[in-house]
Amino acid sequence: MEVVIVPDAATGGEIVAEAMAQLLRRKPDALLGVATGSTPLPVYRALAAKVGAGEVQVDRARVCQLDEYVGLPAGHPESYRSVLLREVVEPLGLSPDAFLGPDGAAQDIPAACQAYDAALSAAGGVDLQLLGIGTDGHIGFNEPGSSLASRTRIKTLTEQTRVDNARFFDGDIEQVPHHVITQGIGTILEARHLVLLATGEGKAEAVAQTVEGPVAAIVPASALQLHPHATVVVDEAAASELK
Ligand code: F6R
Repeated sequence: MEVVIVPDAATGGEIVAEAMAQLLRRKPDALLGVATGSTPLPVYRALAAKVGAGEVQVDRARVCQLDEYVGLPAGHPESYRSVLLREVVEPLGLSPDAFLGPDGAAQDIPAACQAYDAALSAAGGVDLQLLGIGTDGHIGFNEPGSSLASRTRIKTLTEQTRVDNARFFDGDIEQVPHHVITQGIGTILEARHLVLLATGEGKAEAVAQTVEGPVAAIVPASALQLHPHATVVVDEAAASELK
């Protein structure tokens, strides 16, 4: 695992966007795994700026979701599909057809989860998966205790994650869904390159456990230690508890 410490979130965004741009120059139809939440936003803005400046072409690029809420009505502005259409697909000028995601409104959620794993494989697998990290060490929505071999499936969010995400729902935890579909840890580990971005002091303990602690289901992000090509990009605040 490579750990890159950067001065601030904007620099982290630039570095990760450049890694995506380099991949796309080498492999124009690369499949980029994109996360939601606050942390990746500087990445998406920096990548869109590179596209606007003609530094990289994305006309053949494809993107795929890491996770999705279950039970939000189609088109809800905080469904992860809506967020990623707004923050990634539209700014990059991609076709919605280039965007893969699980169906959080499916009647049969387990079948939708299996179908999503199959769709990722059929698409040739994820080339670069961008990950954030929860304050409790989750990746995707694999909360502490998730099997390190897990596949895409439905999960129940912890109270802590619902509290953390209430800011996207007018600060009202009651509006935060209880369930999500998330790529499993085993699914995530199949991506060719994992890039975990963490910024801010609130992530410092989770980052230290991820990088320096034992590999353990109680810290799902520690599974990155098992991956042959994992990069952890952290700002100084998020790195503050590293030895
Ligand atoms: C979201 C996701 C989550 C977030 C994590 C951190 O797609 O997979 O694991 O990355 O909850 O969220 P932020 O970046 O908002 O702190």
